[in-house]
Parts: sequence; structure tokens; C-alpha cells
Amino acid sequence: MSESRSRSAAPSHGAVDPHGGMLLCIETSCDDTSAAIVVGGAVLSSIVSSQNDLHAEFGGIVPEVASRRHTELLDAVVAEALAEAGLGWDALTGVAVTVGPGLIGALLVGLAAAKAIAYRRGLPLIPVNHLEGHIAANYALGIEAPFVCLVASGGHTLLAVVEEGVEFRVAGRTLDDAAGEAFDKGARLLGLGYPGGAELDRLAAAGDAGFAAMPRSLPRGIDFSFSGLKTALLYYLRDLPDGAQEEHRSDIAASYQAAIVRQLADKTVRCARDEGLRQVAVAGGVAANSGLRKALISACESGGLQLSLPPLSLCTDNAAMVGLAAGFLPAIPWPEYLALDAYAAAAVAVRPPKHRSRASGADRS
Ligand code: KG4
Ligand code: ZN
Repeated sequence: MSESRSRSAAPSHGAVDPHGGMLLCIETSCDDTSAAIVVGGAVLSSIVSSQNDLHAEFGGIVPEVASRRHTELLDAVVAEALAEAGLGWDALTGVAVTVGPGLIGALLVGLAAAKAIAYRRGLPLIPVNHLEGHIAANYALGIEAPFVCLVASGGHTLLAVVEEGVEFRVAGRTLDDAAGEAFDKGARLLGLGYPGGAELDRLAAAGDAGFAAMPRSLPRGIDFSFSGLKTALLYYLRDLPDGAQEEHRSDIAASYQAAIVRQLADKTVRCARDEGLRQVAVAGGVAANSGLRKALISACESGGLQLSLPPLSLCTDNAAMVGLAAGFLPAIPWPEYLALDAYAAAAVAVRPPKHRSRASGADRS
């Protein structure tokens, strides 16, 4: 448990145990600038400043633009997270931050801020893997490991068998694009804005999912593949007679979405069955998709599985999930984290060896 800190206290040099304590959490791995206050698994505040409008004119995320925007927004976002929780700096007992995978410049902005705050206040720092964060969002709903978690975002799509806390084994993964990428590319082909996933979801709501035939062949086992689907949509749209795309945009969106969703839902349920697990969770931006949520509810109901379905705000990138993951992870004491680096690729270790958690040899990609 944490000790409370007095206003004028000198740095405690990492003597504070942040677990169960008051954590300032920071997430800047992509294009959302986010800070949250999390205490013992409860989220006191969570602020997300989206950069969507900024990147929309480029049709995708421009990494350098994202990094610069994080530097402009982060101070205000952190201040707002503290204010919304009704706390001052002195209440904090630790800082948790996403260190990878993600856009390296964007990650470094969050990590530099987290280090500076933790160092100045003599607090320990907890580095968090972005995927661990997405998975941990489900702990806000009270789930207990073990469970199967479908992680589907703009950069990753995998089936994680969560064994304890945020330790997981990858049971299946996409062989090409991530599901979020498939949504975004499909949206672009349909002339929607960026990021297109949520817009495609809205358009699909009014459509007939049986209208356009989409390929049904899938990789064997519980791996995913989405690139063929995207190409199929491209050719489907190219070969339509004049005017048909405009007339049937929502039907085509619904058909395309249904093909992505079918794959995600079927393989998730199959994974739970193969693993002999009765609990299924979902994480990442694509978990906000209304079609996927409906499909999982019905597949889990008919398969006798319990489903953990986080609210939309905990599916897309946010710092609250970073705090929920941090509760399971080792803290690096003051000031040993000063040399800690961010990492862009998933294969890099989450923590330096001496701070690694018990079963951290799990594949994190
Ligand atoms: O987890 P996330 O916020 O960021 C990454 O870690 O990538 O996921 C972003 C992805 C984007 O591809 C976005 O289009 C997709 O999640 N997304 C959706 C929906 N909301 C966000 N895809 C389908 N339907 C949605 N409602
Ligand atoms: Zn994410």
C-alpha cells in the first residue's frame, strides 16, 4: 500500500509501493494524448484528447505531427486528469506510462513526461506494454484470469490467452493486416474520412449485410487474415455499374463489416473452446464496433461463454487502461528508470531484465 505524501516532502527515492496507490497514468503511443488517475483498480479520471481531426486531412497518422501534438497537449491533459480526480501532485504515489509498441516519437513524449514527473516527485515508474493495457481494460469490469482476450486495434490483431494479471500467451494472430487497418482501408475505399472504422460502423448500421458477397475462405486454425478482404472490396467497387456504389454504400459497408466481424467472432469463440476457457474478453479500438459487439454477445450466449465487453471509452486508446495494467506490473524505483527507453516494435522486452515480471517470457507481439 502507498504512504501519503506531504506537500513539501523531499523525493522519497522510490520507497513508495505504487500498487494500490494513486497512479498518474500516461498513454501517447499513437494519436491520442491521454492521462488518467487510477487507484487500486478504480479509475478516478480519464482524459483523452484525440488528434483525429489533425490527421484526417492527410488520410492517416503522420508520426511527426502526432509527436508534436502530444508535446503541445500533454501538460494540459495531465492537469485535467488531476483536476477531474480532485487531486494535487502530492497525492500521487507512482507514475505508469506506455513504453511500446507504437510510434516511437509519440511514445517518447509520454515517457519523457512520465520520467520528469516521477523524478521530480521522487516516485517509482511503471512501464506498461500497450497490449497489456488494452487487455487490462477488462479488469475494470471485474473479470478474473484466466480468459481469452481478442485484441483488435489499428496495429494489432491477436488472440491472447491471459493466464494471470496481464501475462498472456498468443494463441492466434493476423497473418497480414490488423482488423482496424482493414476497417480503415475499407472506409477509405468507400470514400469515408479517417479514421474510418467508426464511420464505417455507423454507415453499416443501416445496411443489408447480405448484399455484397465477400470472400469466406480463412486461414486455418485461429489465425486471422484481412488483406484478401480488402482487395475483394477494391475489385467489387471497381466492377459496380455507375451509381450503384452511391445507392448501396451502406449495404456494401455492412457486408464488408460482417466479413471482418464473422472472422473475429468465430475465431475468438473457437479459441476459448480450444483452450477450455469459459470467459471471453475483448480489447482495442475495433472492440468498439457495434457489429462485433453484437456478434460476440450472441456467439458467447449460444456457446455458454461469459463475455467481458468494456465500454467504448476503454476500448479505444486511453490512459486508464495503462493504470489498470500497472497494478499487475513491477515498478522501477526512483531514479533507476531514467535510462529506460521506449520501443516501437512488439518484440522488444517490456522491462529491463531485472525488473521483468515472473512469466514475462510470453510473446508480446
Ligand atoms: O486501439 P486503438 O484506439 O488504437 C491502436 O492501438 O491502434 O484502435 C484504433 C483502431 C482504428 O483502426 C479505428 O478505425 C478502429 O480502431 N475503430 C473501429 C471503431 N472504432 C475504432 N473499428 C470499427 N468500428 C468502430 N466502431
Ligand atoms: Zn491501442
